[in-house]
Amino acid sequence: MSPGACTLFPLFSILIIITSTCTATRDTISSGHPLAGHDKLVSENGKFALGFFDTTGNTTAPRWYLGIWFNTVSKLTPVWVANRESPLAGCASSELMISGDGNLVILNRSDRSILWSSRVNTPTKKTIAVLLNSGNLALSDAANSSIVFWESFSHMTDTFLPGAKLGWSKVTGLTHRFMSNRNTLDLSHGVYSAGPLANTTNRGFFLVWNYSEEYWSTGPWNGHYFRFSNMPEQ
Ligand SMILES: *[C@@H]1O[C@H](CO)[C@@H](O)[C@H](O)[C@H]1NC(C)=O
Ligand SMILES: *[C@@H]1O[C@H](CO)[C@@H](O)[C@H](O)[C@H]1NC(C)=O
Ligand SMILES: *[C@@H]1O[C@H](CO)[C@@H](O)[C@H](O)[C@H]1NC(C)=O
Ligand SMILES: *[C@@H]1O[C@H](CO)[C@@H](O)[C@H](O)[C@H]1NC(C)=O
Ligand SMILES: *[C@@H]1O[C@H](CO)[C@@H](O)[C@H](O)[C@H]1NC(C)=O
Repeated sequence: MSPGACTLFPLFSILIIITSTCTATRDTISSGHPLAGHDKLVSENGKFALGFFDTTGNTTAPRWYLGIWFNTVSKLTPVWVANRESPLAGCASSELMISGDGNLVILNRSDRSILWSSRVNTPTKKTIAVLLNSGNLALSDAANSSIVFWESFSHMTDTFLPGAKLGWSKVTGLTHRFMSNRNTLDLSHGVYSAGPLANTTNRGFFLVWNYSEEYWSTGPWNGHYFRFSNMPEQ
C-alpha cells in the first residue's frame, strides 16, 4: 500500500491484501457500490487512480483529500482534488458514493453528513461516476454514459490535463481555469491562476496573480489559425 493511502490497523491491512488479490480493480462508482476510505478506482488504462490520501503523514494533524493522482508515478502526485478547501480529519469512515439525488458525494458514514458534493441537478437519479483514461472523473447517466452531468475536467484544481476545458462556457456560464495549490501539504488554492479573465476567451488566456493581477497573456487568438500572438508555437 502506498504511503499516504488510507491504512487501517495492521490486522485489517492483512485482510485487505488478501481480499484485494481476489478483487479486480474497478473504474466505476454506481448506486450501492461506493468507494470506501481505503479503496481506490483505477482508470482502465492504469494511468490514473482516485481515492482518499493524506498529504501530511502527520497523524495528529492530517489533511485527507479525495482526489485523482498519476497511478504510475510512485511519489503521490495529485492532478485533481474534490475537497480542496475542506480536508478531512480522517478517511476510515468516509466514502465516495452516488447519493439519492444522483450526485457524487463524500459521505461521513458515522453521522451520515455530506462532506462534499458535485452539486448538479441531474434529470435522472440513476447515475454512475467513471474514472476515464484521460484522468477525467465523469458523472453520467447510468443508462447512457455519453450523457455527462458533471466532470472533474470542468472543475480543475492545479493541473491542466489534455482534454480538459479551459475557457468560458456559454451553456453553464462557468469560467474554466486552474489555480496553484497553496503548498504541497495544503492543497487549498494559492495565488496563481490560469484561464480567461471572465468571458474573454477571444482576448486569449492569462496567468493571473492574486486573483486580479494579470502578469502574462497568450495574446489574442488571431481568429484564423490556432495561434495566439504571444505563443506562435501553440
Ligand atoms: C504534527 O502536527 C502537530 C499539530 O499541528 C504539530 O505540533 C507536530 O509538530 C506535527 N508533527 C510533525 C512530525 O510534523
Ligand atoms: C465523521 O463523523 C464523526 C461523528 O460526528 C466525527 O467524529 C468524525 O470526525 C467525522 N469524520 C470526518 C472525516 O469528518
Ligand atoms: C446516448 O446519448 C447520446 C447523446 O445524447 C445519443 O447521441 C445516443 O444516441 C445515446 N445512445 C443510446 C444508446 O441511447
Ligand atoms: C459574454 O460575451 C458575449 C460576446 O462578447 C456576450 O454576448 C455575452 O453577453 C457575455 N456574457 C456575459 C455573462 O458577460
Ligand atoms: C491582493 O489583492 C487584494 C485585492 O484584490 C489586495 O487587497 C491585496 O493587498 C493584494 N495582495 C498583495 C500582496 O498585493
